[in-house]
Amino acid sequence: MASRLHAHIGTFRQLEILLAVFDGGSVKAASETLFLSQPTVSMQLKKLTEAIGLPLYQQVGKKLKFTDAGLATVQTARAILQSCEDLDMQLSSLRGLKSGTLRLSVVTTAKYFIPHLLGPFCQRYPGIDIQFTIANRQQVIERLEQGLDDFYVFSHLPKGLDLEVTEFMSNDLVAIAQADHPLTQKPKVTLDEFCQYDFLIREIGSGTRHSIESFFEQHSCQPNIKMTIASNEAIIHSVLSRLGVSILSAHTLAFGEIYDVKVINVESLPIRSQWSFSWAKNQKLSPIAQVFLDYVETEGRDIMQQAVKL
Ligand code: PGA
Repeated sequence: MASRLHAHIGTFRQLEILLAVFDGGSVKAASETLFLSQPTVSMQLKKLTEAIGLPLYQQVGKKLKFTDAGLATVQTARAILQSCEDLDMQLSSLRGLKSGTLRLSVVTTAKYFIPHLLGPFCQRYPGIDIQFTIANRQQVIERLEQGLDDFYVFSHLPKGLDLEVTEFMSNDLVAIAQADHPLTQKPKVTLDEFCQYDFLIREIGSGTRHSIESFFEQHSCQPNIKMTIASNEAIIHSVLSRLGVSILSAHTLAFGEIYDVKVINVESLPIRSQWSFSWAKNQKLSPIAQVFLDYVETEGRDIMQQAVKL
């Protein structure tokens, strides 16, 4: 008799939840990724476990240890969901791009300007949904390694991965202080002088932090780190409340609120890099992703330049 496993293997959503738990390492991580409550995730996993008829994982201390049945289910879930994605791609191409999803993961600092690139694109293709994930550099690298999105936006590309890359805009990291800070009055500030002031830095895993650390290492000096803060906005507000000086992308100052911070003219700054869209060389671009890439390459750069006006 033919296998009837598909009749009780669980819903697609349950398989998606299982993968999120496996990839994130916990029910909490999965609930955050999927914007579900933890009881909902646990309930769906319970139903899936009942459908499979064997335990899928065990709690060992704080970690989840997947059983052989769990690992096999994860592997099959990935294949099933990938087939659905492939079908989605084929259907989008048959429908002539009338609908589908474009998935983008961007580092925190790119959240200020990527929406300006998406606006005109979505007006042209109103049936396309965008899944827009904002995370720090390390988290975006992890998404890239898991192949979760069509494109990943970095200003410092991860090393050791085989990537296709399209650069689209420059990214300057500048030194900032509150407007009446003594350093803002000086025409030129040496690095040694800058390093005497309390310094506010992004969290481990941040691309901004990574660039700042490499910069100071190259110049053989050490900033006087006072606070680690996992948010560009909170760093700016901390600078404004005189907790210290910092180095951030100029894009953090160019959008949204007008902050009363000043750029300090420190020697050897700004730290220069390029924003880029990247994707794994072995990843086949969906028709929607291909159209988006063409849009970035033909019009996107100009749209960005106009929106940024640095
Ligand atoms: P971050 O990345 O937002 O994680 O600091 C910025 C960057 O890569 O330039």
